Amino acid sequence: MRLRIPEHLAIIMDGNGRWAERRHLPRIAGHHRGVEAVREVVSECRTLGVRYLTLYAFSSENWGRPEDEVKALMGLLVRYLASELNDLCARSIRFRVIGETDRLPAEVAQVLRETMERTKDNTSMVLTLALSYGSRNEMIRAVRSLAGEVAAGQLTPEAIDEERLNLALDTAGMPDPDLLIRTSGEMRISNFLLWQLAYTELYFSEELWPDFSRQKLHEAFAVFARRQRRFGLTSAQVADQDVHSEENCH
Ligand code: IPE
Ligand code: IPE
Ligand code: MG
Repeated sequence: MRLRIPEHLAIIMDGNGRWAERRHLPRIAGHHRGVEAVREVVSECRTLGVRYLTLYAFSSENWGRPEDEVKALMGLLVRYLASELNDLCARSIRFRVIGETDRLPAEVAQVLRETMERTKDNTSMVLTLALSYGSRNEMIRAVRSLAGEVAAGQLTPEAIDEERLNLALDTAGMPDPDLLIRTSGEMRISNFLLWQLAYTELYFSEELWPDFSRQKLHEAFAVFARRQRRFGLTSAQVADQDVHSEENCH
């Protein structure tokens, strides 16, 4: 049986700091190792045929961390993107960002713009980094832009439906995540994609992010493949739909 692969995988990459602290290393050493795990997971997702991979890299709330950690994370991000650009192009991966990017330092914003521009025609997978991202902030920005259109007479309140709100969010054009993985044993969403995760399957891994390997990803996909996604319907209805969609495949 072919493994069912999520079309859109979202990951809360958590546990870098604890990985380092357990080794009596500075927290940033954990972030460095976290980048290695990012490389492995991006490569494996591309190989397995994931179409959208969305990684939570820095939250709105992470701005409140000690200044030296924030600075080090921004530096790491610039170096990661510079070192990955050729590889993203070679693998035809398109790069995208969600979040309140205006808050990012100019140097980071510049490398983000360049990476998005250089990869914009790539078609094999969309890699999205959530940076300075908070779901509530994203929703406020979306609601403000819709309210602006209403105030300008370009939109009626009745025309605001799920599709219209989707288009106003940073994730416009992306399907909702099929699977969310959070590492490090924490069982919370931490302000990530609150609207988009409405019917996403959740998977919590005990591994700290730097230890999250290709094998762990396969384990998550195997669990995902066994889940029945019902979207509010009954089990029997979904089984019936599956039979029909299999018939249509032949
Ligand atoms: C996740 O690891 C990376 C970021 C939030 C930037 P953490 O830095 O949150 O690691 P822990 O949770 O403190 O171990
Ligand atoms: C969530 O992790 C944000 C990222 C992984 C970037 P946090 O470590 O910031 O979340 P909390 O504080 O444990 O909820
Ligand atoms: Mg954490």
